[in-house]
Amino acid sequence: MRFSITGIAVTALLTTQSVLVSALDLNPDDPKSIIAAAKVLSDNIMEMYTGNKSGGDFPGRFPYPYYWWESGAVMGALIDYWAFTGDAGNNPAVTQAMIHQAGDDRNYEPTNVTRELGNDDQSFWALAAMGAAERKYPDPPADQPQWLSLAQAVFVRQTPRWEPEYCNGGMRWQVVQFNAGYNYKNTVSNGLYFQIGARLARFTGNETYAKYAERAYDWLVEVGFVNGEYKVFDGGHIEKGCLDTSYNQWTYNAGIVLAGCATMYNYSAPGPDQEKWRQRTEGLMNALDVFFVWGTKDVMYEVACERDNKCNRDQRSFRAYLARFMALTVQMAPFTQDYIMPKLRTTAIAAAKQCDGGDNGRTCGMRWTVPTCDGSFEVGLLGQTLSALEVVQSTLILSAPAPVTATTGGTSKGDLNAGMTGLNYTGLRDLSKDPITTGEKVGAAFLTLLMGGVLGGFAWFMVTDRI
Ligand SMILES: *[C@@H]1O[C@H](CO)[C@@H](O)[C@H](O)[C@H]1NC(C)=O
Ligand SMILES: *[C@@H]1O[C@H](CO)[C@@H](O)[C@H](O)[C@H]1NC(C)=O
Ligand SMILES: *[C@@H]1O[C@H](CO)[C@@H](O)[C@H](O)[C@H]1NC(C)=O
Ligand SMILES: *[C@@H]1O[C@H](CO)[C@@H](O)[C@H](O)[C@H]1NC(C)=O
Ligand SMILES: *[C@@H]1O[C@H](CO)[C@@H](O)[C@H](O)[C@H]1NC(C)=O
Repeated sequence: MRFSITGIAVTALLTTQSVLVSALDLNPDDPKSIIAAAKVLSDNIMEMYTGNKSGGDFPGRFPYPYYWWESGAVMGALIDYWAFTGDAGNNPAVTQAMIHQAGDDRNYEPTNVTRELGNDDQSFWALAAMGAAERKYPDPPADQPQWLSLAQAVFVRQTPRWEPEYCNGGMRWQVVQFNAGYNYKNTVSNGLYFQIGARLARFTGNETYAKYAERAYDWLVEVGFVNGEYKVFDGGHIEKGCLDTSYNQWTYNAGIVLAGCATMYNYSAPGPDQEKWRQRTEGLMNALDVFFVWGTKDVMYEVACERDNKCNRDQRSFRAYLARFMALTVQMAPFTQDYIMPKLRTTAIAAAKQCDGGDNGRTCGMRWTVPTCDGSFEVGLLGQTLSALEVVQSTLILSAPAPVTATTGGTSKGDLNAGMTGLNYTGLRDLSKDPITTGEKVGAAFLTLLMGGVLGGFAWFMVTDRI
């Protein structure tokens, strides 16, 4: 038996298509059909969620072996789901999760997750908070942490992790020394920092965030993780000056950097600065082709692992974020629409077709390039379902309200001191008064002299604090 979406959507499908092949056959021209499919997929996800079941996990957690970061990614997706569809059914669970996982210090470093805390993990929660502020997701009561201040807190936590002594800058992947990957600097951590900085700049109008963000983008280019053709690579090790590049191209990394540039483009005043970010956005957009050329044209696939069916649990979710960030890019840089929308629409149709499997007839497989559910449910069902949800709902982007800012209707309250608890540093520098100098940008030696002592002390403090 095929799962049927709703009477309305099925009727709509029957009138536009001669044969109803599968219940999640999606008509991207019909918002009702998209909304109905997105509801099925978000319900699939909430059925896996144990964070609000009695005897289940803490709020904001999916059961082991799903990592903490992926829950943050889910919350970000569900906030967009609410914003794009108007369905507030998941909001109580989402709000509860977002606040609980912020932790006692309201910074998305809850002590329970120290062992799995990478900068990227923390940033996925910050993205959800940033999205909540931009999409006017209902604000928590005043005595609870506020969405904007949570995103600011993460940015304040991460900025002193910038480390010029190795690879001329960049943050490490991991926050704590005992985690594997502490010696790795990668695109996802620095790219998310870049994107969050860009979005904070746009929301608050505070140039300081834009300057820190730009430093991160410049570094990604300098170290070669974003190359001259705008290909986006994974990372490198500090022992090698980060020059032992891992050339894997992951969908999410490309999307993270793309949406960061699109946001900087949107934030910049018309002129040379805006033109610079426009060119970068366009370059990164065109370089997305690598993810859309296998099997079926314009159907997204995970080039680094999908052809030989080696995508792991985390990697099965990555296409979700490329879809999310392509949609955000359309809003921030509308000139990208003609390139992006056909890809999202074609991919959404294909993704919906993967979601008619299992006993309930609506479980999602992994491979959108094959015509029916591939039945691979064992490795990372949450991630592949999330990927389907995000690409399906992204096709609603042209009718979704634009992300707000503090001056265009945003209500979320910020706090420049958020995130400072337990940190031994004076906070972000006001870069509008005290700019990052050329010497700081390019000179590793100079930077080591200037900041090495402070940062070294900070790193030591942070590590011992957590062990
Ligand atoms: C968990 O959250 C979902 C979505 O908000 C809701 O439908 C469900 O009733 C909640 N379960 C409990 C036990 O609160
Ligand atoms: C951390 O673990 C404790 C129990 O050990 C629990 O009460 C608390 O809710 C957990 N915190 C988070 C943020 O999950
Ligand atoms: C910035 O984003 C807004 C909201 O989507 C959009 O209306 C505006 O055209 C964008 N600015 C530029 C320069 O494209
Ligand atoms: C911008 O942010 C910086 C760093 O937090 C702060 O020092 C500065 O006062 C802010 N500027 C404004 C206008 O709020
Ligand atoms: C904080 O940093 C300053 C300057 O590096 C240092 O002198 C001081 O000992 C540090 N305090 C703590 C508690 O680590």
